[in-house]
Amino acid sequence: MQIPFHKPYITEEEINEVIGSLKNGWLTMGKKTMEFEKRFKDYIGSKNAVAVNSCTAALHLALKVIGLKKGDEVIIPSTTFVATAEVVNYFEAKPVLVDIEKDTHLIDINKIEEKISPKTKAIIPVHFSGQPADMDEILAISKKYNLYVIEDAAHALPAWYKGKKIGTIGDITAFSFYVTKTLATGEGGMVTTENDKWADRIRILRLHGISKDAWKRYSKEGNWEYDVIENGYKYNTTDINAALGLAQLKKIEWMWKERIKIAEKYNEEFKNYEELILYKVKDDRISSWHLYPVKLNLEALKINRNQFIEELKNRGIGTSVHFIPLYRFSYYKKLYNYEDFPNSEWIFERVISLPIFPGMTDKEINYIIDNVLNIIEENRK
Ligand SMILES: Cc1ncc(COP(=O)(O)O)c(C=O)c1O
Repeated sequence: MQIPFHKPYITEEEINEVIGSLKNGWLTMGKKTMEFEKRFKDYIGSKNAVAVNSCTAALHLALKVIGLKKGDEVIIPSTTFVATAEVVNYFEAKPVLVDIEKDTHLIDINKIEEKISPKTKAIIPVHFSGQPADMDEILAISKKYNLYVIEDAAHALPAWYKGKKIGTIGDITAFSFYVTKTLATGEGGMVTTENDKWADRIRILRLHGISKDAWKRYSKEGNWEYDVIENGYKYNTTDINAALGLAQLKKIEWMWKERIKIAEKYNEEFKNYEELILYKVKDDRISSWHLYPVKLNLEALKINRNQFIEELKNRGIGTSVHFIPLYRFSYYKKLYNYEDFPNSEWIFERVISLPIFPGMTDKEINYIIDNVLNIIEENRK
């Protein structure tokens, strides 16, 4: 059996929405994008939602509207996707890494304050695997030091922190609709914020700094004239992507429940094996279960993480590792000390992400479980 690490859940509904968009001939950002933004905003319960072409763009524009400048510092977790750090570098500002917790892989709130300096401008918590970070503590720290909180919610649709939906808590939240994400449009992203001024500015910045949206320019209501009010970016999404997003959004809760079912089944089957360390979700929050990370108890096994992945691959099971810590990359190595991130290192040596996606059959889930357990039996110390 071959099971990929991920497969987007695309049905006739998505296909028909896209065909509809192709047939009406608009293709780029237009009415479907506006409708997607409205539906997304209603689903999250946020005041504003602005669609862009990636979560990276969403994070970049978020940092732009809070006024990040050259020489500023931004606190981020040491283990995240490189986009979280990259957007800080766009401003010639410095991403300041903070180690993560061993059991949740979330930024360690007890290690944030020691990294704050007069140059610190913002914190970007990452809701790793779909589990919300410790937002109360992060907001308290941000208040004490007058910092902005930009949430990297690339994994967290939908997720709840103490009853509040992610997308309504920090100053600005950035979502991803990349192909592997819980809502997949191929590429895409969304900004949510309660701040109307920021939302309006992001709408302008996403399309060259033009004062009116292009779709208004070319539609019946519009005319040819427009103004450029600041230097912007080409970060707009397209109606084709939005069409996919609209169809995906209709089934987002169902897809989320499918993920929960898979995660619960893995947890149930793995919980009695001392060779595995299960990922912890704290009691006061609900995860989207974008990822199912599981760690190996290396002290109880004869093989390491890479060999375990190889064994799974030989049996047709796709996996991934989330994430290679930032300080391990050539580009970042020279800027940070390895020793500052013992938990990131400990996790990285042990962690594997198993397949978890809506539409996985019971047969596939059981095949993965049987093979994980079989590899353990064969390689136990
Ligand atoms: C934590 C995190 N942040 C940001 C991103 C960037 O998302 P996008 O590919 O939509 O730019 C990703 C993508 O994998 C991610 O995992």
